Amino acid sequence: MSGDIDARIEALRRSDRLPAHVAIIMDGNGRWAERRRLPRLAGHRAGREPVRTCVRTCARLGVQYLTLYTFSLENWLRPAAEVRGLMRFLEDVLESETLELDENDVRLEVIGRVDMLPEATRAAIDRARARLADNTGLCLTLALSYGGRAEIVDAARRIADDVAGGAIDPDDVDEPAFRERLYAPWLPDPDLLIRTSGELRVSNFLLFQIAYTEIWVTDTLWPDFDASHLLDAIEDFTRRERRYGRSD
Ligand code: IPE
Ligand code: IPE
Ligand code: MG
Repeated sequence: MSGDIDARIEALRRSDRLPAHVAIIMDGNGRWAERRRLPRLAGHRAGREPVRTCVRTCARLGVQYLTLYTFSLENWLRPAAEVRGLMRFLEDVLESETLELDENDVRLEVIGRVDMLPEATRAAIDRARARLADNTGLCLTLALSYGGRAEIVDAARRIADDVAGGAIDPDDVDEPAFRERLYAPWLPDPDLLIRTSGELRVSNFLLFQIAYTEIWVTDTLWPDFDASHLLDAIEDFTRRERRYGRSD
């Protein structure tokens, strides 16, 4: 099995159609746990291994950016115990995975309304980011306390501030100017968006950036997502024709 995975990775590495940026809506942890009569948090914990697999596989493939929808702004509305459990789990994962991320030359970034996160979570992010800051391989971005509409509103507010302060003229507000004020202006638009657990919606993820992103949905629940699913998605992507509205 792993021989098969290795061969598929090697073939993709030779492809010139590899996505530069893969974004994933990691969904289905709760249903995975429910089916096993386990608490929801057990489902979130089981989501750790697929994250490791995706990071490792993307690093091996030479994918440059991997963005993971980890916690949405709307997820704050979940029961306090689930939110607390998720934050502690995240702190634990950041702490224990930093060494392996470093060995894989992975850099870490976070997008979202980070100021809403608990102090301990922010501290864990800062430590991990600082440790990985000099790495030049895969850029792993966690969307945390993230909402696509909020990101657009926050960018609009920055533009309004800059117009009020005279830094930009309203006539010069165009797409590049807007993009510069997103949470991570250097992050290219995702080429491929993967969603697990079969839901056919974007749930407020990267709304500005997914205008021409190719979408791939699987019924597989996130804790069951493995390297073969990721390779299925990427291989499918390499066969797509991207048209960007053109007909030639
Ligand atoms: C995704 O799994 C993880 C987060 C949203 C934090 P869910 O917790 O949404 O799992 P389902 O969709 O209820 O199965
Ligand atoms: C999207 O999943 C958010 C994350 C994966 C972090 P949700 O489970 O929150 O989305 P909905 O509620 O099914 O749209
Ligand atoms: Mg869900």
